[in-house]
Amino acid sequence: MCGIVGYIGHREAYPIVIKGLQRLEYRGYDSAGIALYDGNNIKLSKTKGKVSDLKDRLESEISTDGTLGIGHTRWATHGVPNDVNSHPHYSNSGDLVIIHNGIIENYDSLRKELIKRGYTFKSDTDTEVLVNLIEDVKKNEKTKLGKAVQIALNQVVGAYAIAVFDKNKPNEIVVARLGSPLAIGIGDDEFFIASDASPFIEYTKNAIYLEDEEMAIIRRGKDIKIRKIKNDALVDPYIQELQLNLEQIEKGGYDHFMLKEIYEQPDAILDTFRGRLLSNEAMIKLAGVEDNMKKFLAADRIIVVACGTSWHAGLVAEYIFEDLARIPVEVEYASEFRYRNPVITEKDVVIAISQSGETADTLAAIKLAKSKDAFVFGVCNVVGSSIARETDAGAYTHAGPEIGVASTKAFTTQITVLTLMALRLARAKGTISSSEFRHHLIELETIPSKVEEALKSDTYVQTIADIYKDATNFLYLGRGFNFPVALEGALKLKEISYIHAEGYPAAEMKHGPIALIDENMPIVVIATKKGHYEKVVSNIQEIKSRKGKIIGIVTKGDKSVKDLADHVIEVPETIECLTPLLTTIPLQLLSYHIAVMLEKNVDQPRNLAKSVTVE
Ligand code: AGP
Ligand code: GLU
Repeated sequence: MCGIVGYIGHREAYPIVIKGLQRLEYRGYDSAGIALYDGNNIKLSKTKGKVSDLKDRLESEISTDGTLGIGHTRWATHGVPNDVNSHPHYSNSGDLVIIHNGIIENYDSLRKELIKRGYTFKSDTDTEVLVNLIEDVKKNEKTKLGKAVQIALNQVVGAYAIAVFDKNKPNEIVVARLGSPLAIGIGDDEFFIASDASPFIEYTKNAIYLEDEEMAIIRRGKDIKIRKIKNDALVDPYIQELQLNLEQIEKGGYDHFMLKEIYEQPDAILDTFRGRLLSNEAMIKLAGVEDNMKKFLAADRIIVVACGTSWHAGLVAEYIFEDLARIPVEVEYASEFRYRNPVITEKDVVIAISQSGETADTLAAIKLAKSKDAFVFGVCNVVGSSIARETDAGAYTHAGPEIGVASTKAFTTQITVLTLMALRLARAKGTISSSEFRHHLIELETIPSKVEEALKSDTYVQTIADIYKDATNFLYLGRGFNFPVALEGALKLKEISYIHAEGYPAAEMKHGPIALIDENMPIVVIATKKGHYEKVVSNIQEIKSRKGKIIGIVTKGDKSVKDLADHVIEVPETIECLTPLLTTIPLQLLSYHIAVMLEKNVDQPRNLAKSVTVE
């Protein structure tokens, strides 16, 4: 979810807002737009593409004067990236204009209700629904903008950071946040708003960070009123003096984008199942699956095509789909699948997994499958990407932009989407009972907080990283659902620390890799309580007898492995098929800290690209 910027004060807004959007480019986006108010009219320009494209277009389209302005960089969630879906969005009357980061889950029902009341929509976005809901409330309740926003947001389910103004009240901007960050810069008789402080840090170091479920009415030359969205209660503003520099702000105070994205996983997983996992109604809502349920249920098999980390997510999906939905699954490296003349029929369902949505091999595999009349479903993180457009249907991960080349939150959000799919199909096929289904939903809802808990091992993982950072080889072992996590952990280490590492099914060790084990070999063993635990413990004993150094990833409270291993990192307990969402966390942290200690370029490792668009 991308970026918002705003200014209200005594200076020309445009230079501040356009530069602020440039400051936010690092967050990744697909479109940009600005609205200015010059005292008489709102002037608005927006475009798919880069801030530089917006600058060229805007400066040729509109005059840039005005001391009130808002700007937006979009990371599309509803409606493909194009000019019309870009922000800002007008209300029907043209009086209100809004920018929004986040997802309005119940936008569809709100939109239908507003259409009944005569509203029309130009875009496919959830955001345009919100601005017209605010307008509708304002008209019916005959309230000021601030009150209308407060009432409207109490009808909204989802995540948002918004800024909205009314051309009839141009000395005021109303902002609000739930689940998406929003900072307010307090200048000398001027106010700034932004997703983080990078757009205004050069003007003021005094900032208010809105808390979730708070809104602010910012009035030029006057004051700022902060209120609780729920009950309109006033909140004392806490103004802090920022100590961060620009680079630190861009990384959210973390040293690297990769670490920031590791820590974003609780929110990313929550955003990914938001509006889709309805445990109270014991339902899963995935439009792409619902609309194609017959194809999924009639499928002879599911073929997963992907590369790298996405391929590892596909391997987790194989275990989950077969275990829950009893559908045969084959997982293929897209680069192999596309060239080996595979047998594909119209009875096959292909699932293509890709964070970037631009991986050439995966795109080619999709085209091959489609040429053989297979139905192709995409799991992508970039709305409107090539793969998203090429597939017959799909479900997006809502991880937000992933900047670090090493994929982290994409992996866990891909598994989240695939788990929702498997559960939905299992329910449709009756391969799991309604109580099992509900149990899985309720447990999946606890995963964001359990990931938070798993992240608390960070400091301890650093001590382990320091011990083993000079090792030249690592082995990663796991069984069942955690075998793919062992592969993923090895890839993470390889690609950012340049240390050789291999992932193996734990039982496979005795078929060769055990010959590698000696006192210089660190072996990471995923040994959570669920899934062949006793067998993994015996694998650990085999390693120990050969003096291997054992780093166990265990379920919180584990005793057996603790007595055998050199180190144990605990993760919270959960149901077996969800353990990959937790066991991958310490492995991400371990690879990150080793790479940092070895002074590698963590966010842009040598030889690697974030999106491999070449063959
Ligand atoms: C993962 O850390 C790597 N950066 C790489 O393996 C990546 O997963 C692979 O290139 C696939 O990319 P995609 O998900 O964008 O298709
Ligand atoms: N959900 C809104 C859209 O798709 C906002 C996305 C964002 O956070 O940029 O336009």
